Amino acid sequence: MSRSNAPHGDSDAAAPQGGSPERSPQLSPEHWSPRTLAAQALGRIEPVTRAVVPPLHLSTTYLRDPDNAYRSGFSYARPDNATTREAEDVIAALERAEAGALLFGSGMAAAAAVFCALERGDHVIAPQVMYWGLRRWLRQEAPRLDLAVDFVAMEDPEAVRAAIQPGKTRLVWIETPGNPLCTVTDIAHIAEIARAAGARVAVDSTAASPILTRPLTLGADIVMHSATKILNGHSDVVAGVLAGARRDAFWERLTVIRGGWGAILGPFEAYLLMRGLRTLPLRAAAQSAGALRLAQRLSQHPLVSAVLYPGLPDHPGHAVAARQMEGGFGYMLSIRAAGGEAAAIETAARVALWKRATSLGGVESLIEHRASVEGPGTPCPPDLLRLSTGIEDPDDLFRDLDAALTGAHGANDRPSA
Ligand SMILES: Cc1ncc(COP(=O)(O)O)c(C=O)c1O
Repeated sequence: MSRSNAPHGDSDAAAPQGGSPERSPQLSPEHWSPRTLAAQALGRIEPVTRAVVPPLHLSTTYLRDPDNAYRSGFSYARPDNATTREAEDVIAALERAEAGALLFGSGMAAAAAVFCALERGDHVIAPQVMYWGLRRWLRQEAPRLDLAVDFVAMEDPEAVRAAIQPGKTRLVWIETPGNPLCTVTDIAHIAEIARAAGARVAVDSTAASPILTRPLTLGADIVMHSATKILNGHSDVVAGVLAGARRDAFWERLTVIRGGWGAILGPFEAYLLMRGLRTLPLRAAAQSAGALRLAQRLSQHPLVSAVLYPGLPDHPGHAVAARQMEGGFGYMLSIRAAGGEAAAIETAARVALWKRATSLGGVESLIEHRASVEGPGTPCPPDLLRLSTGIEDPDDLFRDLDAALTGAHGANDRPSA
């Protein structure tokens, strides 16, 4: 194990540690870049064998000291697992999270924990454009939790201000860039409005990653990621994470929900996630650069009526995105097929290189007809294809999509038998 002897939650994950033989030194986020922190997993060395790669800890239980104490800081694997902590500490360092980070069994479990930590009768403001699974969960479950939820155009700060119910609004949930329309929300501006009303701000930053945006430094209280996406990046782990600005009563409640309710991530998944995190900065840069190149080329395409990507200067959220994102605009973009829904579905059917699959953020590029997934009530237009750009050559990706768009156009033009 590589962390201090303090039980989880008792030491600052982002703080540099001393170099005693039992405690591996840790690279300080104040002194080293995210790329260095991630590549070296904070530079820790396993103290017993001096292994450069931390081991996978599978034990469910830990030996108690003869005097009945647990000086190791570990007692039982539901609340405490050293492999999980490794990944949490790297994410906390990247997010500049003073409270640390908590891994969950999925992004949905992490998000649900935030809503379950609210009090009955609280009012929540959520975006109209957000991950559809969480929107559906909120519609179904919020009434059972006695939470009132208003869905507003989060990219319009005045709409958020108007939706605030003084004394009742306790949480503003942001997702930026928003899935799948790539809407951009000004985190700092919304945080200012929420703070004035005594509400917390949580940001689903899945489509940005902590490499491109650090919401806690912009005034947010909590960051959430579906770590299933670019944090892991290899489409082989389902995981979620929360990172907190400060260790207050709300954060302690989240810790209890994660450990006490058992919404945990298994150690093997945490190990794979840790492996993925080491290359996150490189992948985020390459995938964002690829997405931008594709967005630029697709916006000239005669069979594409619109490209939704915050990196394009004509995107309504471009100025805000340029301010709050650093090093790229993310790996997700959407296009609208000029030929409508049938052309969009036919285009997805014809790709050879792109994988026709749901999810985001892996090294392999994915394409999806989103309205088919989201069903009735979605703000997603029927002609929209969501693209998740991987690390392949973006010009290969363009060629494949161009051929599919052209083939779909020909197929749709043929008179039906
Ligand atoms: C933006 C966003 N948030 C949350 C989630 C939910 O994450 P998970 O599938 O890991 O539960 C997803 C999943 O697609 C997502 O895209």
